[in-house]
Amino acid sequence: MKLSILIAVILGAAVTAPAQEAEFRASMKTLAASMGALNKIESKTTPEAVQTAERMAGIYEEMIGFWRQRDAKDAVKLSVDGKAAAVSMASAAHAGDAAKAGEAFKSLSTTCKPCHEAYREKRADGTYAFKPIPEEK
Ligand code: HEC
Repeated sequence: MKLSILIAVILGAAVTAPAQEAEFRASMKTLAASMGALNKIESKTTPEAVQTAERMAGIYEEMIGFWRQRDAKDAVKLSVDGKAAAVSMASAAHAGDAAKAGEAFKSLSTTCKPCHEAYREKRADGTYAFKPIPEEK
């Protein structure tokens, strides 16, 4: 590899990490807004519920890659589980199966907290940051 290409690759890696983290934060805000919206919908089978679950599935899908790159196995697993729950919710909602959509919504909502406990920390000013990836076996 030519030196100039090598330098470009290194610089590229340095600028993409913070950009990805900013994007991740924006996705988290979308997840929080989605959960808020879904919580308000009593029977999770409306077109809005379908659309919101689909959008969440897309975010979880992106998260799988984000956490794989960081070699954070528990976070990858929570992202995979969350995606599966969101997909299952979207299809149950679309089919008008309120019980199944409600169940899937519940499992989807259990993925937030364990990940935040392991990978997120609160700064003194109340904003959030990434914790260093814990040692995983
Ligand atoms: C696989 C891990 C993971 C999952 C699952 C996850 N989060 Fe997060 N979340 C994080 C991390 C890490 C941060 C800290 C990043 C930051 O804000 O700097 C965060 C930050 C946030 C923030 C603060 C964003 C900011 O900086 O303003 C909100 C709000 C949030 N998450 C909501 C949710 C909700 C709601 C869910 C579930 C529907 C969820 N998250 C699922 C890892 C996750």
